[in-house]
Amino acid sequence: MTAFARRRVTGIILVVLATILLTVLTAVFDAAFVSTRGVHGWLLAAMIVFLACYQIRKRLTMLPLGTSALWLQLHIYIGLSTLPVFFLHTDGRLPRGPIEIFMLACYLIVFLSGAGGLLLSRIIPPRLRNRGGEALYERIPGYVRRIAAQTEKLISTTAEESVIRDLFEARLRPYFEQPANFWRHVMHSQKHCVLLLDAVRDAGRFAAEEEQLLLNELTELVQQKDDLDYQYAMQSILKYWLFIHVPLTWALIVMTIFHASVALMYS
Ligand code: HEM
Repeated sequence: MTAFARRRVTGIILVVLATILLTVLTAVFDAAFVSTRGVHGWLLAAMIVFLACYQIRKRLTMLPLGTSALWLQLHIYIGLSTLPVFFLHTDGRLPRGPIEIFMLACYLIVFLSGAGGLLLSRIIPPRLRNRGGEALYERIPGYVRRIAAQTEKLISTTAEESVIRDLFEARLRPYFEQPANFWRHVMHSQKHCVLLLDAVRDAGRFAAEEEQLLLNELTELVQQKDDLDYQYAMQSILKYWLFIHVPLTWALIVMTIFHASVALMYS
């Protein structure tokens, strides 16, 4: 078993043991008619604040607060542990008022986006490496512009009235101009590229002999651009899930403060 797998198994076992311990303690206190909802509430609030602090830790890299890897591990396992604590705190009951419903929605979306984001961060990088290597995200639009300029230069050598020129104006220029087929790449579909390559091949049947070389270069550029589009789509997904996870974290914290204040006022 690799060190990574060992760490993961240990983390999961700790989460399960902590859940069992908390459930047993809750049952013992319930049997003695001692309410534990307040304790679960404070525990959950503390866990959420700790999880939110991960963002601050990521910004303050100069402070000696432990390694990023350790913070990420703690984030994942404490994040997962919030689910049983949440269930114990709510007693498995559905919320009644609009504020509680909003809190539940925020919590579930933060939890699920975290779990989804973690999964994506494990699945996507190896796929990127298999598909043209990892291009630096910020540089992709520049690479796309460079390929577009190359195609324009190639096409400028063809006759004004030709099949290749028609194909370029109708299908290739829009394809080369900017990152394309975002959702198709997310869905791992290759159909768009196959159809485009078929169209280039078909144009070859009507092209003059000296234009065949140009068509080969165009085919190569279509494939290069498709790899870049794939990189762009998958790296965007890796970046943008945090745009759900983080803002809703802060909404959850504001709601938690409000909820705790109301609970304290009426307790
Ligand atoms: C339920 C309460 C949770 C809260 C309040 C929370 C909050 C946060 C915050 C504030 C960040 C920092 C984002 C940044 O600035 O880059 C973050 C990142 C992250 N969270 Fe959560 N999270 C929670 C649950 C989870 C869960 C359950 C998981 C996974 C099972 C998870 C996985 C992640 C991952 C993978 C990152 C990005 C790590 C990185 O790229 O460095 N989170 N979370």
